[in-house]
Amino acid sequence: PAADAFAAPLLAWFDVHGRHDLPWQHPRTPYRVWLSEIMLQQTQVRVAIPYFERFVAALPTVAALAAAPLDDVLGLWSGLGYYARARNLHAAARTCAEAHGGELPRDFDALVALPGIGRSTAGAILAQAWGDRFAILDGNVKRVLARYHGIDGWPGQPAVEKRLWGFAQAHLPRARLADYTQAQMDLGATLCTRHAPACTACPLRPGCVAYAQGRTGELPTPKPG
Ligand code: ADE
Repeated sequence: PAADAFAAPLLAWFDVHGRHDLPWQHPRTPYRVWLSEIMLQQTQVRVAIPYFERFVAALPTVAALAAAPLDDVLGLWSGLGYYARARNLHAAARTCAEAHGGELPRDFDALVALPGIGRSTAGAILAQAWGDRFAILDGNVKRVLARYHGIDGWPGQPAVEKRLWGFAQAHLPRARLADYTQAQMDLGATLCTRHAPACTACPLRPGCVAYAQGRTGELPTPKPG
């Protein structure tokens, strides 16, 4: 199939039904995208929004974050949980101050070398902040791709995850990488949900293997045990 049999209908759906008013989209700076991605690793969008607003009001730049005492950062994070995220954010900002001219680097390897940033988060930052052509594969996207391609096996299993990364890479559009990245997250959060997915409204239904086989309820395969 054409590379954009996946991306084109997803982007068209996003234009009408996607989330276009998230605070880190206006303005969409690398720092704000980074902060939002770290918050959203373990926190839902509606919970993260007020924390995000407070955090960027107090510490508006990478340099401000790097210069702040750790206790201030932990105070701004207080209530969000998973405090290693705040410690990593602070340590990463200090590395940016020392090694990257006080900015987040526009470089995949430099990003994944920073604490708290893995392959998917680095891709999400590069795609959303700069429109660079990188894939993401978080829990929502794993579910979408496992269903769309009818992939059996728990997505946490390395061989399965490797296949899913291959599909994530193959589906990348030529342009609109920021919108495409957000579109995948929005589809996974609002239509292709874990339970009772809204397939009748889904732009990817025509090509979805799980839908065609009546297997949306069994895919993705749950964690064994
Ligand atoms: N999870 C991670 N990044 C996200 C984003 N930009 N929007 C919604 N959920 C997300």
